[in-house]
Amino acid sequence: MKVADSGSALREILKTVPGPRVLVPTMGAFHPGHISLMHRAREIAGPNGTMIVSIFVNPIQFDRASDLAAYPRPMESDIAECEGAGVDVVFTPDAGSMYFPDRSVTVTETLLSRGLCGATRPGHFDGVCTVVLKLFLLTGCDAAIFGEKDFQQLAIIRRMVRDLDVPVEIISCPTVREPDGLAMSSRNTRLTPEQREDAPRIRKALLEAASLETADEILRSARTLIEASPLTRIDYLSLVDAETLQPVIALERPAVLAAAVFYGEVRLIDHIAVKAR
Ligand code: PAF
Repeated sequence: MKVADSGSALREILKTVPGPRVLVPTMGAFHPGHISLMHRAREIAGPNGTMIVSIFVNPIQFDRASDLAAYPRPMESDIAECEGAGVDVVFTPDAGSMYFPDRSVTVTETLLSRGLCGATRPGHFDGVCTVVLKLFLLTGCDAAIFGEKDFQQLAIIRRMVRDLDVPVEIISCPTVREPDGLAMSSRNTRLTPEQREDAPRIRKALLEAASLETADEILRSARTLIEASPLTRIDYLSLVDAETLQPVIALERPAVLAAAVFYGEVRLIDHIAVKAR
């Protein structure tokens, strides 16, 4: 396995690697969800192709400095996990090598990014689109793997690739969950034991609500169940069209019930598909 800590080091390594190139973009702090993305990447790349994992805590997608500072960065164990997962190239740039101090070009998506996480995290998806496009260009990847847990991010990246004719195939992998249903996330390690014990209620609330009949009942039920805990603070709870991500009031088309919930400073997200009635 080779490790590149800057764009120019990566370019040197990539001169010699065989295709197809499959990228798993990450911010590190791996959990089994990330490892499942790497396994999928290997399937797509095949035994002779090149699997590249980027580990970069992208400062421009954080809206709160405290969140950026607290983001876990276990670089040594992450690199060891890449080795174990059969990664060919690990890209570990620092912010200084990714962004010029006077950078003035950003990728902005103007429709799908307005609601849900975009409504309460200004600039977040501009930061995601910008870094993902840079990673695509730096690695020259043919395909890239993303988790479905960040379903708004996935929809926005697919839209960016479509609208900008980016020649990268976007492949998604299902959310990996803890045995108690909590979606795996690098942020889970920041929960106190009490918060961690309570957090599966987000998944339970979404599951229970999704089987109800009307949009109104679904939203009311999920809110009641999440707010029944004194530890939670809902950032958003929305029922949106599965394709346009715009809020729905009638379930005439497939929809998604999505939530972002704060436990103290830690913000967790989850969602569930809701069938048309
Ligand atoms: O999902 C993530 O971990 C990040 O948003 C991504 C796609 C690696 C961009 O920084």
